[in-house]
Amino acid sequence: MTGNVSESQDGLADFAGKVAVITGGASGIGLAFAQALAREGAKLVIADIEQGALEDAVRRLGERGTEVIGVKTDVGDRASVEALADRSWERFGAVHVLANNAGVATFGPTQAMSHEDWLWSMQVNLWGPIHGVEAFVPRMIAQGEGGHVLFTASFAGLVPNRELGPYNVTKAGVVALAESLRKDVRGSGIGVSVLCPMRVTSNIDHSYRNRPAELGRSTSTYSAEDLAALQGRTLAPEAVAALVLDAIRRNQLYIHTHKEAEPLVRGRSERIAAAFAHAL
Ligand SMILES: NC(=O)c1ccc[n+]([C@@H]2O[C@H](COP(=O)([O-])OP(=O)(O)OC[C@H]3O[C@@H](n4cnc5c(N)ncnc54)[C@H](O)[C@@H]3O)[C@@H](O)[C@H]2O)c1
Repeated sequence: MTGNVSESQDGLADFAGKVAVITGGASGIGLAFAQALAREGAKLVIADIEQGALEDAVRRLGERGTEVIGVKTDVGDRASVEALADRSWERFGAVHVLANNAGVATFGPTQAMSHEDWLWSMQVNLWGPIHGVEAFVPRMIAQGEGGHVLFTASFAGLVPNRELGPYNVTKAGVVALAESLRKDVRGSGIGVSVLCPMRVTSNIDHSYRNRPAELGRSTSTYSAEDLAALQGRTLAPEAVAALVLDAIRRNQLYIHTHKEAEPLVRGRSERIAAAFAHAL
């Protein structure tokens, strides 16, 4: 497609025969998204840091007849994401969907977070999607077949949660990255969406399982009660994945999953606007 394509033509109307790369695709939301795309007839590249879960996911998807490969990837490592892109094009000759989905959470008061908590969160949650944009988007545009970039941010990227400082910061960055990319690729054939869920059933509360040894153990003080106090329902990842496919077909920028998030997003916007009463 040329640079003159109108925005309405950006993105993908259907997924049959298309190639999707999903980071963090071996568990939770990423795995459910992979399964939903497989049902639509897409070919898949599952990228994950957890070897055992990655092998399981690839085997199970393959058993249902999906063309799928697994590529062990650390999204926080630029060379690893470049290698993922090379492997994807080498195997399938094209990439149409990039889901920058891998993410981790560290819990506790912002002021009590260790430097390593910040580093780990930034590497996976923010550098990961930046690496994805660097390694994939210019090639997806040059390939000229249209496509879609999905970012899994969080409700926390729109309204910060208590005791999730590094998570909130990185997810706000992901929202800004998606908004920026959306503006800059307009007319290129590439759609952009950012998923902003509240709680979804997954293994995110055990993120530390993939924490590199050199970044130490978490200083997390979060308890089961703290987790229970997070607002909103806990949705099934399959329901979220179905919503995401529909939103991609519409090239919808913000993907909200929980209706109960709406007053909270409006409340934050109103608090920001109210402070203009004191502006010059
Ligand atoms: N579950 C929720 O309630 C919720 C809510 C809002 C946003 N999210 C976001 O959804 C995304 C998916 O998380 P999930 O909830 O499915 O959790 P999950 O732990 O079930 O899945 C995350 C996957 O990312 C992988 N991963 C972790 N570090 C990685 C790295 N450095 N490189 C590559 N892969 C890595 C994990 O191995 C895992 O397979 C994350 O970005 C998360 O922040 C989750």
